[in-house]
Amino acid sequence: MASSTSEKRWIFPLAMASLMFIFLAAASFNMGLLSSVRTINSLFFSSNLSTTSETTAKFAESKINQSPLHPPPPPVQSSPRFGYLVSGSRGDLESLWRVLRALYHPRNQYVVHLDLESPAEERLELAKRVREDPIFSDVGNVYMITKANLVTYRGPTMVANTLHACAILMKQSKDWDWFINLSASDYPLVTQDDLIHTFSELDRNLNFIDHTSKLGWKDDKRAKPLIIDPGLYSTKKSDVFWVTPRRTMPTAFKLFTGSAWMVLSRSFVEYCIWGWDNLPRTLLMYYTNFLSTPEGYFHTVICNAPEYSSTVVNHDLHYISWDRPPKQHPRTLNINDTEKMVASGAVFARKFKHDDPALDKIDKELLGRGNGNFTPGGWCAGEPKCSRVGDPSMIKPGPGANRLRGLVARLVLTAKLTQRQCR
Ligand SMILES: *[C@@H]1O[C@H](CO)[C@@H](O)[C@H](O)[C@H]1NC(C)=O
Ligand SMILES: *[C@@H]1O[C@H](CO)[C@@H](O)[C@H](O)[C@H]1NC(C)=O
Ligand SMILES: *[C@@H]1O[C@H](CO)[C@@H](O)[C@H](O)[C@H]1NC(C)=O
Repeated sequence: MASSTSEKRWIFPLAMASLMFIFLAAASFNMGLLSSVRTINSLFFSSNLSTTSETTAKFAESKINQSPLHPPPPPVQSSPRFGYLVSGSRGDLESLWRVLRALYHPRNQYVVHLDLESPAEERLELAKRVREDPIFSDVGNVYMITKANLVTYRGPTMVANTLHACAILMKQSKDWDWFINLSASDYPLVTQDDLIHTFSELDRNLNFIDHTSKLGWKDDKRAKPLIIDPGLYSTKKSDVFWVTPRRTMPTAFKLFTGSAWMVLSRSFVEYCIWGWDNLPRTLLMYYTNFLSTPEGYFHTVICNAPEYSSTVVNHDLHYISWDRPPKQHPRTLNINDTEKMVASGAVFARKFKHDDPALDKIDKELLGRGNGNFTPGGWCAGEPKCSRVGDPSMIKPGPGANRLRGLVARLVLTAKLTQRQCR
C-alpha cells in the first residue's frame, strides 16, 4: 500500500514534466510534415526484426527516457555530415567543378577524382582550383586524389576506386555519417541545408541502396560470364574482355543487383573497409571477374550480411530516367524533364550534358545559386556569393526540404511495411 501511494505522489510531477516536454517538443517542431516524419521514425526505430534494429530500438528508447531530464540537444549538434566522392574522366573537369560548387557545404567532406584517362592538364587544373579556392583552403574539407586511378567503366576498378575514396574519407574525418558517390554528370536538386535538415531526423544506420535479387537475364549475361578488367594491371585504359569457360551461379551467397548510385551509412562503409568479417573481401574477389561490378558489389555485401541487411531502404534517392525497354545508359535529361525531377522529391538527378540549360534552371529555381557561386545556405553569412565562411552549424532549409521529406517519409514507411528485408 505504502509503495502505491508514494508512486501516486510521483505521478503528478511526472505528468507535468511530460506535458512540459511535449509542449516544448511541439513548439520546436512546428511544421506538420516534420512531425509526420517523426511518427514514421518512431515506427522505424521501434522495429525489432533483427539484431541491428534491436540495438537501434534500445538506443532510441534510452534517448526517449533521457529526454524529460535533459532537454533535447540543439538541432545543430544532431545535424549529420556527408562524405562525397565526385568522380569524372576525360573532359569532365568543368562539369565536376560545377557539381562540386553546387554541393559544397563546410560541414561535409569531399573527395574529387579525375581518372587516369583524363589528361594531366585537366587533373593539374583541378588540383590548382581546389588549392587556390579561398573557402576550400580555409575549411580544408576538399581532397583531390592526385595519384589518379585507372577506372574501367563496368569493371571492378570502379569499385576499387569507390572503396579508395571511402578509405580517404575515413582518414580525413571521423565525423561524417553518410557516403555519397556521384559522377560529374549528376546534379543536386536540393540544397545541402535541405539534405542535412531532412537527414537529421533519420536513423544514421540507414543505407539507401536500390536493389533486387531478381537478376533475370542478368543471370546469364552478368553472373555466369567471366571478365577481366585490364585496368587492374595495365597502364592504358581499355575495355573489359571476356574469358571462357563460364562459371555457375554462386551458392555460398545470394547475388543482388541494382543502381550504382547509393547513399551508404558510415557504419556499413566501416564494415566494408575495416570489418573483421571476411564477407566484403571474399565478395570483392568474386566480383573481380564480374561484369558491371558497381551495380552489384555493395548490394550483394549488404544483403548477405544479416547485421546490415535490415538497414537497407530500396531507393537510390536519384531521379534517373530510363528508356523503355531500358538501354544500357539512362536518358540524358533536359529542360523538359525539370518538372518530373522536382516532383520526384529526389536529392539528385542524372545524367546531364555539360552546362545544359536544365542545370541553369535548377541553379536558379531550386538551389538559388548564382553563376559559379556556392549554393547559399545558413553558413554563407548572408551574402549570395558565399565568399566568406560563416557559421557552418547554421542550417537554413528551404522548400527542397519539404519535397525531400515527403519522399523519405514514403520510403521509410515502405521499408517498414516490407520489413526491411532485401528482396
Ligand atoms: C519484438 O520483440 C519482442 C521480444 O523481444 C517480441 O515479443 C515481439 O513479437 C517483437 N516484435 C516484432 C514486430 O517482431
Ligand atoms: C560510383 O560512382 C560512379 C560515378 O562516378 C559510378 O559510375 C559507379 O558505379 C559508382 N561506384 C560504385 C561502386 O557503385
Ligand atoms: C522541350 O519541349 C519542347 C516542346 O515540346 C520542344 O520544342 C523542345 O525541343 C524540347 N526541348 C528539348 C531539349 O528536348
